[in-house]
Amino acid sequence: MQPNSLQPNSLQPKRILLIVGGGIAAYKVLDLCRLIRRKGLLVRAVMTKTAGEFVTPLSLGSVTGDKVYGELFSLTDEAEMGHIELSRDADLVVVAPATANLLAKMAHGLADDLATTLLLATDKKVLAAPAMNLRMWAHPATRRNVERLTADGVTFIGPASGSMACGEFGVGRLAEPPAILAAIETMLSGDTLIPLPDGAWADAGDSGRRPLSGRHVIVTSGPTHEPIDPVRYIANRSSGKQGHAIAAAAAAAGARVTLVSGPVALPDPFGVTTVHVETAREMQDAVDRAMPCDIFIGAAAVADWRTGDVAGQKLKKGHGNPSELTLVENPDILAGVARRTVARPRLVVGFAAETTDVLAHAKAKLARKGCDLIVANDVSTSGETPGGVMGQATNTVHLIDRDGIESWPTMGKEAIAERLVARLAAMLAK
Ligand code: CTP
Repeated sequence: MQPNSLQPNSLQPKRILLIVGGGIAAYKVLDLCRLIRRKGLLVRAVMTKTAGEFVTPLSLGSVTGDKVYGELFSLTDEAEMGHIELSRDADLVVVAPATANLLAKMAHGLADDLATTLLLATDKKVLAAPAMNLRMWAHPATRRNVERLTADGVTFIGPASGSMACGEFGVGRLAEPPAILAAIETMLSGDTLIPLPDGAWADAGDSGRRPLSGRHVIVTSGPTHEPIDPVRYIANRSSGKQGHAIAAAAAAAGARVTLVSGPVALPDPFGVTTVHVETAREMQDAVDRAMPCDIFIGAAAVADWRTGDVAGQKLKKGHGNPSELTLVENPDILAGVARRTVARPRLVVGFAAETTDVLAHAKAKLARKGCDLIVANDVSTSGETPGGVMGQATNTVHLIDRDGIESWPTMGKEAIAERLVARLAAMLAK
């Protein structure tokens, strides 16, 4: 077997220590290793005992180009490289798939095999890509472990939502290898900036709690689609850019973030659990399932109405009159969260997309919906920009709370997201 070689275009290739857990998704790490090496990075793999049920050391070794480690007490391995050295030799530790069992061991500091011993011995950043059945991911024990690990500084990528090997559908799939690679590159670049409570910015560095460490933030984003028949739906122009940027900024500030997204053409943000939905009622269910949280941010442009009867077949011209489409009001997700009597989030933030009397409507919305803060913006259209700010890269917002109005200059949506997250972190810290 050929050892990893230095890439000609890189003086110091970064090293990844990949801990492979025992889950059905383990086969995807073969692809991940190929992608990592194609980027000129070095990767060394360590398998748990159960990982060997899903992927062989031979296949893993052929894609890493290196020895694959597995046993804690292997005298030959120790002679070549001690287990402490193995953990320190890397620039980043990646755990994929991070099974429920592996996360539980990490959260409790168990070290009963080589993989967990390395995780306890490492002084490097750790990126975990969880993969498990959706009920295991939603279980309070896993929630506690993820919260603990997030507070300890572990970064999470995924899990993604979709169909699972067990036949169920939901959140728990391993993030796709290109998404894990993007997370690896971001973490290796080490240039993550995090907001401080006073609104200033600081380098996250290797240590220290980030302003939203240990917090759970739920963000809704994008439009909802309300079906009329199998091919048509009611929709709006929301792109999801602002909501997705807020989710990413909250994750960068150390929060565990659940993003409930309507149909958008955006990638899932790094470090965020993204739940994909279509309709307002699916969005409400996903929000209910993700609760409780410390901060709820309703950035989605939820359709106010859905059709009373969704036609089973495509509606044909000449049969029935489209003006007879009956509309039923959708649940107000934001108001429902704000009016919770049990486990209400400490902060409930709404958006007000208005075309006239922006501030007056936004103030009324603050009271009507019972939220703590409204981010208002003018979405009126002009000749050049149908849909106004929707889909654009910049936004001009006003923050309205019980104490008054604060108007921000026009900024990029990412900058607004970062400033808003810093502001919320400061409110929570009071
Ligand atoms: N919202 C929600 N559920 C709905 C409608 C809106 O959660 N069914 C949330 C949005 O995510 C946003 C806020 O409520 O944070 C305001 O949305 P907007 O569409 O501006 O307000 P509406 O409630 O639709 O009120 P109006 O039609 O009077 O503008």
